[in-house]
Amino acid sequence: MFPAISMSSSRRAILSSNDTNLEKHVQMPATIILGGQWGDEGKGKLTDALAGTAQMVVRANGGSNAGHTVKTSQGVFKLHLVPSGILNPACICVIGAGVVIEPGTLISELAGLRNRGIDVSNLRISDRAHLVLPYHPELDRLEETRREQDEIGTTLRGNGPAYSDKVARHGLRICDLMRPDILRRKLSIELDSKNQQLSQLYGEPELDFNEIYQSLIGWADELRPFVTATEVLVQDSLVADKSILIECAQGAMLDIDYGSYPYVTSSSPTAAGACQGAGIAPNQVERVVAVYKAYSTRVGGGPMPAELHDDTGQLIRERGKEYGTTTGRPRRTGWFDAVAARHTSRLNGVTDVAVTLIDVLDVFEEIRYCASYNIGGKPQSHLPALVDDLVDARPNWTTLPGWQTETTEMRTFAELPSTLKGYLFELETILDSRVRFVGVGPGREQLIDRDAE
Ligand code: IMP
Repeated sequence: MFPAISMSSSRRAILSSNDTNLEKHVQMPATIILGGQWGDEGKGKLTDALAGTAQMVVRANGGSNAGHTVKTSQGVFKLHLVPSGILNPACICVIGAGVVIEPGTLISELAGLRNRGIDVSNLRISDRAHLVLPYHPELDRLEETRREQDEIGTTLRGNGPAYSDKVARHGLRICDLMRPDILRRKLSIELDSKNQQLSQLYGEPELDFNEIYQSLIGWADELRPFVTATEVLVQDSLVADKSILIECAQGAMLDIDYGSYPYVTSSSPTAAGACQGAGIAPNQVERVVAVYKAYSTRVGGGPMPAELHDDTGQLIRERGKEYGTTTGRPRRTGWFDAVAARHTSRLNGVTDVAVTLIDVLDVFEEIRYCASYNIGGKPQSHLPALVDDLVDARPNWTTLPGWQTETTEMRTFAELPSTLKGYLFELETILDSRVRFVGVGPGREQLIDRDAE
């Protein structure tokens, strides 16, 4: 069991000594969990582990492009939209306003969970969350084809087009879905313009209004019991001193502003994005836990300076079972990229680090990490804005000794080989933050909490 996440006594004392009335407004602050790299860092497992003490888990961004694999005594669960806290029956699970929801996908995911005996009645869905509608995956696919060799390598789930509509103020939301009359009117306007785009720009057949409308109406009834103003629920829970975890999808290197644009996702998988997507204020956050793999992976296109195209990269892929949860695509692999990791650690105010999949490196004689980039013959230690510079970036490696010891059965930080700890301490210096959690395998029990010792 992990210790509950609690407000520091000093903060409570400062607030209460200045104004005694304020004490009743002081809340148990929230913890954010985010991925520090390009996604797939094992956030789901960490969220699931921490959800043992959290009373609420809120998913803040992304859509069914995300994939969380959680391994429990009941088997392996692959989740896309439902927060991984759903496996803890005492936890309220919220899909926040920052998420984009494809209703059919969510309904099948809920059915899959129910079939395996998981109670989903603790799910709550924001009435402000935007919908992924049938034309969005279609436009995602067509736009990727149009980009040809410059394709982003999206998950083709329609998330980019759904977020584009949201920002362009053409989106339909869960609250629209709950009102058949309003849905009919708005869908007819939006579909009209999307059909023009499909037929005139891409030469594709138009989509049928009635077909889409009827399936949406059916889905609306299934989702209705879960829909609520989740920002109210989240704020009420904070006032009631409940512990809240905010779960970001993807990874901070895929952030729309600070990632390797345009090879990014269309939301903000960052601490700031987590606040926005979950409906909490920055000063209600106490901890930002960033999850980093002990090495790097990336799916889709875009630069990855520390990528390995050799046998080492292949061995990492096989040992780490690096194949996408959502798409099944083999992930690109490489050594840890310290430039990218430091970039995300600083921008997200990371307070605690989780290093996952360290056991994947158990067999290597030497471990490397990319300490800086060489761009146009010049060393650079921060992430360039221009993607072309990042494409040109060559890694400057630092080499450390490997530990060549199996770690999967180790359950305490103290047991870990000293050379492995040496690597973790080096990562702490890079990230300027303490490694609290270490993952030595996919199981729940294979997550070492240094503070529990
Ligand atoms: P999209 O989010 O489907 O538009 O894809 C944009 C980029 O983000 C692509 O490179 C995807 O492979 C990547 N991406 C999206 N979701 C995930 C995820 O959950 N894990 C890792 N990469 C992701």
